[in-house]
Parts: sequence; structure tokens; C-alpha cells
Amino acid sequence: MKRTILVTGARGKTGREVVRLLAATSGITLRAGASQPGTLTGAANVQPVRFDWSDPQSWPAAVDGVDAIYLMRPDLPEADFLIASLIALAPGSHIVLLSEQGADRLPDGDWVRRVERAVEGAAQSWTILRPNWFQQDLTDPRFYLDAIRQGRQLPMPSAGASIAWVDARDIAAVAVTALLDPAAHDRKNHTC
Ligand SMILES: NC(=O)c1ccc[n+]([C@@H]2O[C@H](COP(=O)([O-])OP(=O)(O)OC[C@H]3O[C@@H](n4cnc5c(N)ncnc54)[C@H](OP(=O)(O)O)[C@@H]3O)[C@@H](O)[C@H]2O)c1
Repeated sequence: MKRTILVTGARGKTGREVVRLLAATSGITLRAGASQPGTLTGAANVQPVRFDWSDPQSWPAAVDGVDAIYLMRPDLPEADFLIASLIALAPGSHIVLLSEQGADRLPDGDWVRRVERAVEGAAQSWTILRPNWFQQDLTDPRFYLDAIRQGRQLPMPSAGASIAWVDARDIAAVAVTALLDPAAHDRKNHTC
């Protein structure tokens, strides 16, 4: 039977790679969620769908009948509440959350952990990815592109931070493995 998977943040650094890998996988109905789905390009078997965290009316159609969701957390204080509300619309689906490295060392009240706990509490089955910094930040104008191109510098936020650049394509490959085989990755955290 065909499985239906929603990828949120389908234009993002990892999201677009998750879409690319799943589009090449048979037996998948693939929904690519973006705030402006008209800008998504890709394979014929990819269904662009509008998904906007700030517009809950866009959620039901995006999650209708899904078996699994690649979840990119919204950068909002109430992200934990929004995530639990979304998961309630897709009971039984497997959630693969993109979190961040070091989350396991944070106190439960920290935003990052609150988001993870929202998934752990609301989802019947889940996998949490805890990646290091994306290599693609170096060419992203929201991150380092201008500093490198114009200033020829790579400013780092804090001394002593443990940073190992990881390719977003590798994170996407881990996400796809968990999306396609939920039983093997259920209730597991993957540092990548
Ligand atoms: N960058 C890193 O090095 C790094 C490292 C570890 C963890 N992370 C985590 O990975 C996630 C994404 O990382 P990033 O900052 O590099 O971004 P990104 O992957 O380049 O893109 C972020 C995505 O979020 C989507 N988005 C933004 N606002 C949205 C909204 N209101 N509703 C629906 N989708 C929305 C955007 O979708 P549209 O394009 O459709 O608007 C975009 O596809 C974040 O949670 C970040 O904390 C990042």
C-alpha cells in the first residue's frame, strides 16, 4: 500500500533534500509543504501543498491521511503548542523532528527541549534528529554568505562551541531512513 509523507519546510536546506530523495522512492505519495508552494519545482510525483505554521487553516489539508511527517519546527515561542496541535490532526503518524545537537544536555524548560517533548508527548511514534551546523549555512545569505564573500571572514558566535559542519544532504538521508522505516527508528534520537 502507498504511504503518504508530508515534508514541511520543503524549500529549506534539509527539506528540499528529503523531497529529492523521497521523490525517487517508489510507493510514496509525497506532499511538499511550503509557505508558497507555487515556487516549488520538482518531480511529477511531488504534490506541492501550502503549509504555514502561522495559518492553522493550512494544516488539515496538508496532514490529511499522512503516515509520516518531516517536521521543521517553527521559530516561534509557542512552537511546542503549535507542534502538539498539528500532531493531533495526524494521529498515528510517525514524526521525524529536526532538532539540534546538544538538546540532550539542555534543561527540560529550554525551548529546544520543550519542542522535543511536545513531539515525544503528542506523537504515537517519533524520531528526533539532532544535527550539528549545516555546511550549507556557508552559502546562505541568512547566515554566512555575505560575511565570507564581502568580509572574507567566518564569524563564529561563541568560543569553545563544538561545531562540526555537516552536509544537509546527509541529514536528509537520515531523515528519509526514519520516515521510511518508522519501526526501526521509533523513540530514537539521532545525533548527526
Ligand atoms: N542551519 C543550521 O546550521 C542548523 C543546525 C541545526 C539545526 N537547525 C534547525 O533546522 C531548522 C531549519 O534550519 P535553517 O534555519 O537553516 O532553515 P532552512 O532549512 O534554510 O529553511 C527553513 C524553512 O522553514 C520554513 N518556514 C519558515 N517559516 C515558516 C512558516 N511560518 N510556516 C512554514 N514553514 C516555514 C521555510 O519555508 P518556506 O520557504 O516555505 O517559507 C524554510 O523552508 C531550524 O529549526 C534550525 O534551528 C539548523
